[in-house]
Amino acid sequence: MIKLQFSFDIEILNNRTMIKKITLFAMLLGSLGLFSQKYDGLALTPPMGWNSWNHFACDVSEDMIREMADAMVKTGMKDAGYEYINIDDCWHGKRDSLGFIHPDPVRFPNGMKALADYVHSKGLKLGIYSDAGWQTCGGHPGSRGFEYQDAQQYAKWGIDYLKYDWCNTDGLKSEGAYLTMRQALKAAGRPIVFSICEWGDTEPWKWAQDVGHLWRTTGDIYNCFDCVYDHGTWNSWGVLQILDLRDNDSLRKVAGPGHWNDPDMMEIGNGMTLSEDRSHFSLWCMLAAPLIAGNDLRQMSKETTEILTNPHAVSVNQDSLGIQAYKHGVIGGVDVWVKPLASNEFAVCFLNRSINEATIEFNWKDNPLDDTFSGKKADFGKDTFEIFNVWENKTLGNTKKSLKATIQGHDVLFVKLKK
Ligand code: GLA
Repeated sequence: MIKLQFSFDIEILNNRTMIKKITLFAMLLGSLGLFSQKYDGLALTPPMGWNSWNHFACDVSEDMIREMADAMVKTGMKDAGYEYINIDDCWHGKRDSLGFIHPDPVRFPNGMKALADYVHSKGLKLGIYSDAGWQTCGGHPGSRGFEYQDAQQYAKWGIDYLKYDWCNTDGLKSEGAYLTMRQALKAAGRPIVFSICEWGDTEPWKWAQDVGHLWRTTGDIYNCFDCVYDHGTWNSWGVLQILDLRDNDSLRKVAGPGHWNDPDMMEIGNGMTLSEDRSHFSLWCMLAAPLIAGNDLRQMSKETTEILTNPHAVSVNQDSLGIQAYKHGVIGGVDVWVKPLASNEFAVCFLNRSINEATIEFNWKDNPLDDTFSGKKADFGKDTFEIFNVWENKTLGNTKKSLKATIQGHDVLFVKLKK
């Protein structure tokens, strides 16, 4: 079946001989056992790291990436679990006469291998970006037709993570194009996390589980809590819009260790209010989303650092079961999201979507938790949990009594229910 999909991806090539050659090559790889699947054992919990795009767009350089690796260690992000330093679009120079890609020699004068060595020496990993089409979204060389060479080059450089975009792909089928790169990465022989970025256009949650380790579910995030930014031919989306764009009940069924829904990189520390940043982070933790920071780590405020590194929030995201939250309901105008955790514990996030303060009274006994997908349940008439406030780092009593709270506009009350 995999061989069929590979052939189908190259249907657009009108050259029969070429197709035969590639199919034979694919079969040879298959018989060597290289064609079986994606790299297993990677991203068993949602990947944590940093990416250049949200803050720097095309303004990337070797110096900046080194400084970001230093900052990830110095700020405590690494200790909190962040691992990947990911270079997004615009690192590219030209292909050489053999077709191998090289980084921009001015921005990356020492080359990618030296940069990867540096990042690895800090105990971190290096990610890179390419595109399934002829060109990246920023107009740089894409991987179309060079998939195996690009994968080999990344492996040679010591790259650990590939974000693979979907601009300039007219005539291509997404599943086939992403399968081709998956096979190329496997054949290159280095374990590389494969991040699919086709914006949810072709419903990757229906086909990407065995192709990549994470897949974008929507178009790009915009640095606002509740807005849509119109670019003319496409939109980018605020935090609430991303939360609502897709059917979460369908998405959560395909998330789990090694394969995650990706609602895009975070905008924390890029200008939203503290309440909004806190809500954004809480939601990404609840959704078992990859935690890829998108701010300038070299000059973060204490508050931003505290949000990104909150150990209780991070532990909800990194829970070993990898169950994505579901929406339990709306109480007093406030969303109630529930994430089953290991050891029969739960995280509950009360989200105030409004800009006005909200007051809630949540009676646990009237709200038994029952997740048919994971089979996790809590009957508060029988079981009592301690309620731990994630952002205030304190216990709020237990589930025998109703939880009463006032939640600021665009803020959350984020609790863990502990046994
Ligand atoms: C697309 C992606 C973004 C970013 C840019 C780079 O828009 O969705 O995350 O990678 O391309 O050009």
